[in-house]
Amino acid sequence: MKALLEILEPGNREWELACSLDPARMPAHVAVIMDGNGRWARRRNLPRVAGHRAGVEPVRVAVETCARLGLQSLTLYAFSKENWKRPKSEVDTLWRLLTYYLSREVPRLMANNIRMRVIGHTEALPVKVRQELCEAIQITSSNTGMILNLAINYGGRTEIVDAVNRLISEAREEGTLDNLVVDEEAIESKLDTAGQLEPDLLIRTSGEMRISNFLLWQIAYAELYVTEICWPDFDRTCLLEAIAAYQKRDRRFGGLRPAQASPATEAEAVSAPIR
Ligand code: IPE
Ligand code: IPE
Ligand code: MG
Repeated sequence: MKALLEILEPGNREWELACSLDPARMPAHVAVIMDGNGRWARRRNLPRVAGHRAGVEPVRVAVETCARLGLQSLTLYAFSKENWKRPKSEVDTLWRLLTYYLSREVPRLMANNIRMRVIGHTEALPVKVRQELCEAIQITSSNTGMILNLAINYGGRTEIVDAVNRLISEAREEGTLDNLVVDEEAIESKLDTAGQLEPDLLIRTSGEMRISNFLLWQIAYAELYVTEICWPDFDRTCLLEAIAAYQKRDRRFGGLRPAQASPATEAEAVSAPIR
């Protein structure tokens, strides 16, 4: 938190929002479906790719802000398995923007002690993009701060299927296939995000009320926050507002808040005849 206040101007809205956050109730992991680039551009009579271009700066801001807030992980949905359905020219622009982002941002990731990782199937990406990603992952690997997971050519269902297949092939290699136990812990240990905490907060921009195959396993108990703002307009204030809203949520994980469970009246009701 202190690290964030250092880069904000005292007195403005971002500063006030940051000061209003409760450091004890910070999400450990935030995941973001960065949506609405195309609509942002269309509303301005610009080609869709202009929206993608305008979406680069908010990525930089979100990454730095989350690192300075002391989050353990930030996962950004950059390209889904299903996004290959788009015109090749749009997909190629997305790869160009990704390499541009990486070439400019690695020094900043280093300055903010961020470890970059990729979740998803990178083998399908153009060689140049894969090389840039590998380099960024390698260069930032010994950092000790926030983990930045970029979800690229990612699909939540595929991730779960991959995890199960990894369990099967490891057991086959070890000759333990007959005794293989597939439980939640085993699957979790083979997910792309293994070892990280699950997202506490899932943000989706541009108003769509869906998950679009993102982190299906990990968001079982994430708090959902959907904003009408399109990704290119999602600035630091929007991010801090999302975290402030998260801090007001009542997370019960299937249980009850202490105030809801009043033992005396509950006991009475339980012993009453069922009609
Ligand atoms: C999100 O914006 C970026 C990617 C999916 C790569 P969109 O391109 O989906 O923008 P809309 O939803 O069409 O407005
Ligand atoms: C989800 O957005 C994928 C990313 C943000 C990278 P989409 O725009 O692809 O999702 P749908 O098609 O609206 O569900
Ligand atoms: Mg979209």
